[in-house]
Amino acid sequence: MRIVLGITGGSGAQYGLRILEVLRSLGHDVDLVVSNGARKVMELEVGGDWESRLSVATVEYDLGDIAAPIASGTNQNDGMVIAPCSMKTVAAIASGYTENLIQRAADCMLKEGRRLVLLFRESPLSLIHLRNLVTLKEAGATIMPAAPGYYYHPRTVDDVIDFMVGKVLNTFGVKHDLFRPWDPDRARQDLES
Ligand SMILES: Cc1cc2nc3c(=O)[nH]c(=O)nc-3n(C[C@H](O)[C@H](O)[C@H](O)COP(=O)(O)O)c2cc1C
Repeated sequence: MRIVLGITGGSGAQYGLRILEVLRSLGHDVDLVVSNGARKVMELEVGGDWESRLSVATVEYDLGDIAAPIASGTNQNDGMVIAPCSMKTVAAIASGYTENLIQRAADCMLKEGRRLVLLFRESPLSLIHLRNLVTLKEAGATIMPAAPGYYYHPRTVDDVIDFMVGKVLNTFGVKHDLFRPWDPDRARQDLES
């Protein structure tokens, strides 16, 4: 598969970094675009050598490169995920006012009828946020709150991240082993052990 990945300035940059890492380790291609907001959040939230984690992308485009292949509906890909997706980027896509490559690529997904997954993170949500999300759902996007489930009994933050990443990969039909299929008996056994 070839998936376009946008990382924007919502909290939860780790989701985008992990999606990139897992897709590449499974042999999929990733066209990456990172917003300026995301770079600021990664600096403040992730720390360490986050820049080298981006370097595993198949291709990384500049945010301002609106002539990049993924800025056109003619580009061959299997869809796009924005993770995390800030409410600013949600607003831009919902209004059709696409002024950077992430927003333009997302616009192309919607107009071409391809999969667009928005892993947004904000809380609480204003009426404006909610209306924008409804608009995007109506336009065909998959709206995913960064709201992990706890029924797999995560023990670490990485477990929590992998749950959401697995849910995103499921929407593309990408096979992964980030979590097992749900089994209530196993869940009970886990709790007892
Ligand atoms: C540390 C930090 C955390 C942030 N968390 C969020 C968030 O969870 N959700 C959100 O919508 N914006 C959040 N923001 C604000 C966005 O980064 C900001 O609106 C930015 O302009 C988004 O632009 P972009 O979508 O082009 O990345 C955060 C900013 C910082 C610095």
